[in-house]
Amino acid sequence: MSIFEAMGQYGHEQILFNRDEAAGYTAVIAIHSTVLGPAFGGTRLWAYADEKSALVDVLRLSRGMTYKNAAAGIPFGGGKTVILDRRAADRVALFRAHGHFVERLAGRYVTAQDVGTTLADLEVVRGVTRHVAGLGGRVPGGVSPWTGRGVFGAIRAAARERWGNDGLGGRTIAVQGCGAVGTYLLRHLHGAGAKLVVTDVDASRAAQAASELGAKVVAPEAILSEPADVLAPCALGGILNDESIPRLRAEIVVGGANNQLLEPRHGRMLADRGILYGPDFVVNAGGVISGCIELLGWSEAQMHAKVDAIHDTLSEVFAIAKRDRILTEEAAERLAERRIAAGRVDA
Ligand code: NAI
Repeated sequence: MSIFEAMGQYGHEQILFNRDEAAGYTAVIAIHSTVLGPAFGGTRLWAYADEKSALVDVLRLSRGMTYKNAAAGIPFGGGKTVILDRRAADRVALFRAHGHFVERLAGRYVTAQDVGTTLADLEVVRGVTRHVAGLGGRVPGGVSPWTGRGVFGAIRAAARERWGNDGLGGRTIAVQGCGAVGTYLLRHLHGAGAKLVVTDVDASRAAQAASELGAKVVAPEAILSEPADVLAPCALGGILNDESIPRLRAEIVVGGANNQLLEPRHGRMLADRGILYGPDFVVNAGGVISGCIELLGWSEAQMHAKVDAIHDTLSEVFAIAKRDRILTEEAAERLAERRIAAGRVDA
C-alpha cells in the first residue's frame, strides 16, 4: 500500500518524515486531523522492527487521538510522533532535534509524553518549543491523578447504566495494576465505600494498596476471574481477548489502560457475554483533559468539570449504543465523529 493510500484509509491530513543525522533523530509526525483544533498527541520512542511498523503505529495512534480528544470534549485534533529508537548516544540532542521539528509546525501539532519518553525528555523539547503539554509540575504523578479521577467517574456511570444508580458502596471492584492511575483510582473507590481487590506484578505496589486501603491482594493471573462487580484494567493493553473474556466474572469492565480490546471483535465477545464495556479512550481521557490548563489557560475548576464530564459522556455512549443497537466502542466513535463533522466539541 502506498503512503497516500494509507493516509486515505486512515483519513490523515499530513505526515511529516523528519531526519537530523547529527542528532541520530529519525521520526514521523502524523497529523490526523485539525478540524477541532491543533493536533494533540504524545511522542513515542520505540525500536520498531521496520519502517512500515513505525508508520502503521503512528497512523493508528494519531487517528486514535482525534477520537479521544473529540470524545473528551476538548478543542484539539489528533496527532502523534514516533521517533525510531536507534539508541542515540546523546538523548538531549535527540529531543532538541524533535523540539525543532515540532516548533516548525508553529502550533499545528502539540506534543506530550508517551511510551519510551520521560518528563525530562519533554523538558528538553520545551526548551525549544512551547507546543508541549503534560509537564505537570502541579501535582506529583503528572497527569495520572486526573486520569484516575476520570476513570472513577466512568465506573459510576457504568454502575448507573447497569444497576440504576451510581453508588459504589459495597460493590466489589477488581483493579489490575496499582501504578500511577490505579493508585489514584483506588483512593476514589475506597472513598466511595467499594470493596477492593487488587493485583500487580510488582508485589510491593499491591501490598501498599492493601495496607493503605484495606484491599485484598490476589495473584496477577487470578484478577481477571476474581468474583467482582467491576473489573478495572489499569495495567496493560490487549487484556480483553479470546483467552481472558470467557473467564471474566465482572458485569462491568471500565479501566484506565489503553487499547484493552486485543481486536475490535472482542467488543462483540464482551457484549455477547452481557458484560458492559466502557471504551477506554473515553474512560481514560482525564490526562489529556488536564493538558488544557497549560495549553488553553483553563482554571483548575474548569479542568475538573471537564474530567468529571467523562461520567456523562460515557452515559451518552451507552445511550447511543442502545438506540443504534451497536457496540459501546462503536457508539463512542459515532459520538466523536458527530463532533468532528459538526466542527464543535459540544455537538
Ligand atoms: P504505571 O506503569 O504507573 O502502572 C502500571 C502498573 O501495572 C505497574 O505497577 C505495573 O507493575 C503493573 N503491571 C504491569 N503488568 C501487569 C500485569 N500483567 N498484571 C498486573 N499488574 C501489572 O502506568 P500508568 O501510568 O498507571 O498507566 C496504566 C495504564 O493506563 C497504561 O495502559 C497507560 O497507557 C494507561 N493510561 C495512563 C494514563 C496516565 O495518565 N498515566 C493516561 C491514559 C492511559
